[in-house]
Amino acid sequence: MSARIRQELGVDELRERFAEYTRAAYESLPSTRNQRILEIGCGRGAVTFRLARLSESAQEFAPDSEIVGIDIDGDALAELARRIEVEGLCRRVQILQRSLLVTGFADERFGLVWAEGVVHIPGLEASLPECNRILEPGGYFVLVEAIAWMEPRLRNLPRFGFELVERIPWEPDCWWTRYGKPLEARIRRALARSKAPGRSRGADACAITGAVA
Ligand SMILES: C[S@@+](CC[C@H](N)C(=O)[O-])C[C@H]1O[C@@H](n2cnc3c(N)ncnc32)[C@H](O)[C@@H]1O
Repeated sequence: MSARIRQELGVDELRERFAEYTRAAYESLPSTRNQRILEIGCGRGAVTFRLARLSESAQEFAPDSEIVGIDIDGDALAELARRIEVEGLCRRVQILQRSLLVTGFADERFGLVWAEGVVHIPGLEASLPECNRILEPGGYFVLVEAIAWMEPRLRNLPRFGFELVERIPWEPDCWWTRYGKPLEARIRRALARSKAPGRSRGADACAITGAVA
């Protein structure tokens, strides 16, 4: 989906409807772990900005604190880089085009690794060894995935050196009710407008995928 269509449909605003869950997970962690944060699969930065705001409002951001976002999608990172500049966050937020499978960071570099909607792509087995390597001892890993995907895999966490400390369930079907359904309605309205008499038909198209948590 192009940036223009995303803006027209208000996709970023829809994504923000899940901010409460980022906050709940962030606030459940000991604050000392929140000073060197890596977000893997940051995409266009919906969660990156939330983490930046949360750490700022918690006044936890010591001078040597950092938020690093990595992703393999160069276009998404370019868009995120522009927003980081506009919002004046260049000194606190760094983004890099890297895979979570081979991050290139030193062992135990981060106190907190955050992953929303990305680990299911390469899979748990492929992702967790690297996440464990770059986390300091006693560090935290926040993993956000659909319950149906995550549930049968929870028992595998200790194999990769992780201990489950807390689960924060999202409201059932919230990806549909807060995101998929309103997005579908907005797409229908946009299509109706584009077909209205007197409107030229553009060549833009978009696809939506949704997951039910
Ligand atoms: C569903 S999006 C989630 C984006 C963001 N975390 C959010 O919640 O809005 C998944 C992201 O993971 C990224 N991704 C997929 N495989 C990756 C990998 N091996 N390393 C880093 N990022 C990856 C994709 O490029 C995409 O930006």
